[in-house]
Amino acid sequence: MLKVVALVSGGGTNLEAILNAIASGEIPDTQMAAVISNNRDAYALERARGRGIPACCVSPKDYPERSLFYQDLIKEIDGFSPDLIVLAGFLVVIPPELVERYAGKIINIHPSLIPSFCGKGYYGLKVHEAALAKGVKVTGATVHFVDEGTDTGPIILQKAVAVEEGDTPEILQRRVMEQAEWKILPEAIRLIAQDRVRLENGRVRIL
Ligand code: GAR
Repeated sequence: MLKVVALVSGGGTNLEAILNAIASGEIPDTQMAAVISNNRDAYALERARGRGIPACCVSPKDYPERSLFYQDLIKEIDGFSPDLIVLAGFLVVIPPELVERYAGKIINIHPSLIPSFCGKGYYGLKVHEAALAKGVKVTGATVHFVDEGTDTGPIILQKAVAVEEGDTPEILQRRVMEQAEWKILPEAIRLIAQDRVRLENGRVRIL
């Protein structure tokens, strides 16, 4: 049984896609052990509670120093002994201690085709604003392992999505979610649950 902890910051539509895929059996032998947010008002926490999944908030606003926030965040995660940590729209930089402790066990969904429109400052709607400003005709989403960098870890899955005439950042974000994110994030977890994802020389091989 793969024990997953999801870290979230906002609406939680990616979380919902994962929970649906676990419930339907599309992702086998997997349990969502807990959902943790940096944002007390994240609707993602409601989605988790509605399904009886432990959900809590560790907010940086409650700590005088970043390092103390990170300490408690790691303590909270450790309490659930996860096999996999999923950053499902977690808009906080992950501390190196967490990456080290869970090396090869943290995955992230990013709403672009990495290495485009990623790294520091590219999150949420900003990614789609930048894609539209550049005038790209194709964008998409990426699921990757998390390393010490921002959006630099080995790529597991990507899916392309067309940009259409008249798109606004909001319309494009929705299309990228529907056509890419909600598909490849559950798919990546399914492959990991089936032990079909190998990290070899910094690259991912799917068996
Ligand atoms: C998603 O589009 C996700 O890819 C993005 O935040 C959104 C969260 O939506 N993540 C990042 O930008 C990470 N750099 P959700 O809460 O509805 O899943």
